[in-house]
Amino acid sequence: MKKYNFDEIVNRRGTNCYKYDALKKIFGSDDLLPLWVADTDFRTPDFIMEAIRRRMDHENLGYSFRGEGFFRSIISWIDHSYGTVIPEGWISFTPGVVSAVTVAVMAFTQSGDKVIVQPPVYFPFYESIRGSGREVSLNPLRLHKGRFHFDLDDLETIIDEHTTMLILCSPHNPGGMVWKREELEALAEICNRHRIMVVSDEIHSDLIYSGYRHTPWWMVSEEAARHAIVCMAPSKTFNMAGLSTSYTIIPDPEIRKKFNTLIQTLHIGNGNIPGAVALEAAYNHGHEWLSQMMAYVEENYRFLEQFLATHLPRVKVMTPEATFLVWLDFREYDMDDLQLSEFLVREAGIALNNGACYGLGGDGWQRINIGCPRSLLKEALERMAQTFGRIKD
Ligand SMILES: Cc1ncc(COP(=O)(O)O)c(C=O)c1O
Repeated sequence: MKKYNFDEIVNRRGTNCYKYDALKKIFGSDDLLPLWVADTDFRTPDFIMEAIRRRMDHENLGYSFRGEGFFRSIISWIDHSYGTVIPEGWISFTPGVVSAVTVAVMAFTQSGDKVIVQPPVYFPFYESIRGSGREVSLNPLRLHKGRFHFDLDDLETIIDEHTTMLILCSPHNPGGMVWKREELEALAEICNRHRIMVVSDEIHSDLIYSGYRHTPWWMVSEEAARHAIVCMAPSKTFNMAGLSTSYTIIPDPEIRKKFNTLIQTLHIGNGNIPGAVALEAAYNHGHEWLSQMMAYVEENYRFLEQFLATHLPRVKVMTPEATFLVWLDFREYDMDDLQLSEFLVREAGIALNNGACYGLGGDGWQRINIGCPRSLLKEALERMAQTFGRIKD
C-alpha cells in the first residue's frame, strides 16, 4: 500500500494562493507563518493530479457536461461513508458550497424573512443572508464543558412567523463538533414543527476523527429530509478548493426543482472540466489517502494539545471531533480582539483566523489550521510560546 508523505513542505508561494500570497494584503506582512485559510498545505493527491493531466492531454477544453461517472462516484462515496444509496436525481452540481447556500436563501426565503445561524460560525453565512436582503437571526451555540451545544430553548424563543430557514454547519466550523445524532434529531424536531427549512453545510463531513460518526442531515429523519438542502464537496477533503466543484443533495422533488431552476437562471451550473475530473478521481480512489491524511491530522492535533498543555497552559483548546481547524481560547490573556490579532501577527509572526469574525462568542478566540506539515505547526507553536511567554501574569 502506498504511504503518502504529509511531512513534505510544498512551496505554495507564487501560485496566487490566498494562504501565502495574500498575507501582505490581509495581515500587512509577507513574513508570517500562515495557519489560516481552510485549505491544507498537503499535495493534492497524485491520483487526482494524474486524472486531470490525462484529461488535459486531450487539448480541447470546450463546453462539457458531467457524465454518469461523476454521479456514480458521488453515490458510491456516500454509500461507503453512510451505508445508503441515494438516487442520482437527488444530486445537483453547484460551483461552491457558499454559492449553494446563497442560492438556497434566494430561492426559499423572501425579502425580510429571518434566517437562523448559530454563532460562532463560518462567517460567509452572514453575507449569504444579508446580501440577499434577508435578516440574520442569531441562535448562539452554548459553550459547556469545553464543547459547543445547540441552545434549543433559545431557538424556540427566537422563532417567529418571519423565520423560514436555518443554516447549519455540520460538522461545525470553527468548533470542530460532529453533531451527535440525538442533537440533530432534537434540532430537526423544532425545525419541522415550525416548518423551517434546513440548509446543512457538510463540507467538512469527510474529515472525521476516529471515534466519531457524522450523520448527514437527510438521514436524521424522513421529515427532516423533506425540508433539507445538504451541501457537500470534495474540496476540503482532497485539497482541491480551487476547482470550484461541489454539490447538493436534495431529497424533495419540489425543493430540488426550484433550487435547480435558480441555478439554471443564474447560469452557474456549468462547472469546469478539471473540477469534474478531480471529483470523480477523488471519490473513486481517495479512501486510503483520506485515512492516511486524517491519521496525520489527528497526530498533529495530539502534538498541538500536548504542546499547549506543556508550554502555553493559558491557551485552552476545543477538542476537535472533525476538520483540520482548531478553535483556540486566548481569553485568559484578557486582550481585546485587535490586541490579540496584532500580537499574534506582529510579535509571534503567525497568521491565524480571528475569532471575532465568526460572530457572537468568537471574541478572544483564534482558529488555527493544522492541515500542514508538523514541522510548520511546531514552528508556529514555538513562536507562540516564546511571545506569550514574555507576558507576565
Ligand atoms: C463550513 C464551510 N463552508 C463552506 C466553505 C467554502 O466552501 P466553497 O469554497 O465551496 O464555497 C468553507 C471553507 O472554509 C467552510 O469551512
